[in-house]
Amino acid sequence: MKPFSIASDIHWVGALHPDLRIFDIIMKTKNGSTYNSYLLNADKTLLIDTVKSKFTDLFLQNISQLMDLEKLDYIVVQHTEPDHSGSLIALLDKAPDAEILCSKSAVKFVKNTINRDAKITPVGDGSTIDLGGKTLEFLQTPFLHWPDTMMTYCHEDRLLFPCDVFANHFCDSRMFDDAITRDFAPDFELYFNIIFRPFKKNVQNALAKLGNFDVQMIAPSHGPIIRSSVHEVMTRYDQWSRPVPENSTPRCLVYYVSAHGNTEIMAKIITEALKQDNMDVELYDLTQISIDEQLDNIEACDAILVGSPTINNDAVKPVWELLTSLTTLNLKGKLAASFGSIGWSGESVKFIDERLKALKFKVPFEGVTCKLVPDEEELQSCRQLAHKVAETIKA
Ligand SMILES: Cc1cc2nc3c(=O)[nH]c(=O)nc-3n(C[C@H](O)[C@H](O)[C@H](O)COP(=O)(O)O)c2cc1C
Ligand SMILES: [Fe+2]
Ligand SMILES: [Fe+2]
Repeated sequence: MKPFSIASDIHWVGALHPDLRIFDIIMKTKNGSTYNSYLLNADKTLLIDTVKSKFTDLFLQNISQLMDLEKLDYIVVQHTEPDHSGSLIALLDKAPDAEILCSKSAVKFVKNTINRDAKITPVGDGSTIDLGGKTLEFLQTPFLHWPDTMMTYCHEDRLLFPCDVFANHFCDSRMFDDAITRDFAPDFELYFNIIFRPFKKNVQNALAKLGNFDVQMIAPSHGPIIRSSVHEVMTRYDQWSRPVPENSTPRCLVYYVSAHGNTEIMAKIITEALKQDNMDVELYDLTQISIDEQLDNIEACDAILVGSPTINNDAVKPVWELLTSLTTLNLKGKLAASFGSIGWSGESVKFIDERLKALKFKVPFEGVTCKLVPDEEELQSCRQLAHKVAETIKA
């Protein structure tokens, strides 16, 4: 797509990627994406971010339509992930005198990306640059979502360039929120959940910082440019990043899989025992639920108990799916325990515990196994595990 103006002397010069279906391996992008780069063409010229390498030629052509690339004064690298730095080397080939401005922690990332000499200047929080009629202020916003991330605010236009924050993998050539007629709210929320959910605290810090600025337009690094819903977009980020409130009654979640009903018996006994200890308990057969729909639940609970039989020396796949779906959650210190029915080798419980610990759950109790069909003594061990979990939560 050709460049277009978003404010006086400020142009979008990015690239559309409508057929992108998966981003960074982890994120489905059924509506494609865009790589937004912005050129500020004042007395001095400055480019904010670049695009994915695949679109380099188009990107350089876009800039060349507006200025002589050789004369580019500055390149702001807000974040070095390749979807924004992929064209940096080719750009430097054309604009060898351009000075790179980036956060302090981005300096080494830029060097490790371009692997050559360049003029790189770190910019501090609140530092400004005057392009002649355009005053840019840099805001340090680390871990949104890499250590290097920063934002740029243009005072004259009250225009915020927040990089991946408020971004959206949604490709529509109309580009402005009020011109796009399709609903992009679900994609906007998905983007937050996949990219920013692990960094809720940092989102809150950034929002607090942004409270000092009058933002009239948001020009993010992907998807629609926001000019008619600035307040709504910020409000949603605020809501999604609030700390989870404490439960008035302690909540435990019991997840299990069972091929022949034995682990299921254990799960039910554990659930009953937790209830007797006055816990709020929810019991789920992992083959019957969508894990994505459980993420809020897991983040809000006090303890999680995971049960799996041992099949071929391992826990079963739905359990691994659960345990590999939790990396975007803050689980530090939350209580967890495991259980399962086994035949002979019984590795499942040990593997689940190892994974729970790697996820930073507190796993103070040894998981309970029973041999094939649980007998009364084994059921008692299940009750005891539940009781210890409940006591720990209460304490
Ligand atoms: C295909 C298959 C493979 C199994 N592999 C193991 C194994 O490697 N180690 C083990 O301890 N038990 C193994 N077992 C035994 C199960 O763990 C045992 O039957 C258990 O009671 C099943 O619990 P469930 O009723 O909750 O599915 C296997 C069972 C099946 C059906
Ligand atoms: Fe990114
Ligand atoms: Fe990005």
